[in-house]
Amino acid sequence: MSATIISFMNRKGGVGKSTLLLLTASSLHHRTGKKVLVIDADLQTSILGLREEEKEMEQGESSFYEIVGFSWSKKNASDIPLLRFHKLIQQIENKYDYVLVDTPGKMEGEEVPLIMTVSDFIVVPIIASSFDIQSTIDFLEIIPPIREDKIKEGFELKVFGVVNKKDRSLEHKHLEALQGIAGMELFDTHISNLVRYKRDKSTFYDLVDPKEKEDEFNLYFNELLGKIK
Ligand SMILES: Nc1ncnc2c1ncn2[C@@H]1O[C@H](COP(=O)(O)OP(=O)(O)OP(=O)(O)O)[C@@H](O)[C@H]1O
Ligand SMILES: [Mg+2]
Repeated sequence: MSATIISFMNRKGGVGKSTLLLLTASSLHHRTGKKVLVIDADLQTSILGLREEEKEMEQGESSFYEIVGFSWSKKNASDIPLLRFHKLIQQIENKYDYVLVDTPGKMEGEEVPLIMTVSDFIVVPIIASSFDIQSTIDFLEIIPPIREDKIKEGFELKVFGVVNKKDRSLEHKHLEALQGIAGMELFDTHISNLVRYKRDKSTFYDLVDPKEKEDEFNLYFNELLGKIK
């Protein structure tokens, strides 16, 4: 078994990386029966912290999926975070079916290409104002050379754009500008700006009944499942 690694990335902060990752992880865990690991590589807004709080309240702890924290800052003079991240991936690769990586809002350094290199898929949450779109385009332009290197080694790197916090002011012309940049596939389904995404922050909770076929989250989740098979 070699894990499918899905990273949630965008250079822009606050676009919904952690929110989408948590919902996706919970649904993968509850609905597919596969082994899920979350790497919380953004210890600032900690998913791991959320889990600790939930553990104190939740009795059925054994049914949690696993979360491991990772810090990009140097622990001591001889610590090399990039190497440490690589080692972590090697350690967990054969133990899980899906590994979801949460990434910090502001990443400028070498960790960006490294996370991309170890990923099979990158989910890029996008907020559709013209300002946000330009920073997303700048971010996407990092991807093609990394993908080319991966292809040489016999691997792929697929990038999915998911419109988040969609509201009536969504400008379709802005979204069209994104289609195909760096080979990104825009999802057909959008995630709306709804309190349910804000409110139900949990590492565990499956947002909606999977049987609700027309629910937009289920449409998103099923579209993702279809693409990562
Ligand atoms: N679809 C949505 N509807 C309503 N609120 C949302 C939605 N998606 C995210 N939010 C809210 O927007 C804020 C930012 O979301 P989140 O923390 O997931 O973004 P992020 O990209 O992980 O941010 P950071 O870059 O700081 O890590 C949070 O308060 C979250 O609850
Ligand atoms: Mg986050």
